Amino acid sequence: VAASVPVICIDGPTASGKGTLAGELAKRLGYHYLDSGALYRLTAFAARQQNFELDAAHEALIADMARKLPVRFESGNIWLAGQDVTEAIRTEAAGMDASRVSALPGVRQALLDLQRSFARLPGLVADGRDMGTVIFPQAPLKVYLTADAAQRAERRHKQLISKGIEVKISTLRADLEARDEQDKSRSAAPLKPAQDALLLDNSSLTIEASVNQVFDWWQARQPFAT
Ligand code: DC
Repeated sequence: VAASVPVICIDGPTASGKGTLAGELAKRLGYHYLDSGALYRLTAFAARQQNFELDAAHEALIADMARKLPVRFESGNIWLAGQDVTEAIRTEAAGMDASRVSALPGVRQALLDLQRSFARLPGLVADGRDMGTVIFPQAPLKVYLTADAAQRAERRHKQLISKGIEVKISTLRADLEARDEQDKSRSAAPLKPAQDALLLDNSSLTIEASVNQVFDWWQARQPFAT
């Protein structure tokens, strides 16, 4: 990663609003955006299509696929080879599958270069679990975004309802807590705040207020202003 490309890392647990915050911030700054979770979701989706076991038994095969993912990001849509998988990779099951393959060190290694290739001028906002700890450790601004589990479950519930999908809040909350636990307890790049991360709890903040906060932090510290 060229040291001159400014990178802002937004890490945190499932459904904490990272994607929304990172996407809005990227838009406001005119920066590129990396949704690293999508890469794990795509890898798991492709592995399922091949009927692979999502564990160490097929780690080498899945890692090999991850290294050559035929992915295309196109104005909000995500294509895997010739298939539009934008919706398919967003389900709760796809999230859990992604969490499982993401625990395999070979798979994480395989996605390193692809993730770092997103760091291009004028800058990058990257969201995930290990953006600040592993992928972009030199990033001048790292944010660890949290929200309490009840809030996160409620937001996810609203999203799903708006798509016509009925799920119980209690089920969603149990699912996201299970996924957090899995992401925090794995040995390869576990979810945790980088030592120099700024913590932001958005439980009672609007999206706009969260974006403003990170934008202000960025203005206050980015060393690239002319
Ligand atoms: O952010 P998300 O819900 O789309 O991520 C799906 C899963 O992928 C998440 O539960 C863990 C894994 N992941 C990861 O291990 N590292 C990242 N940088 C991003 C996601």
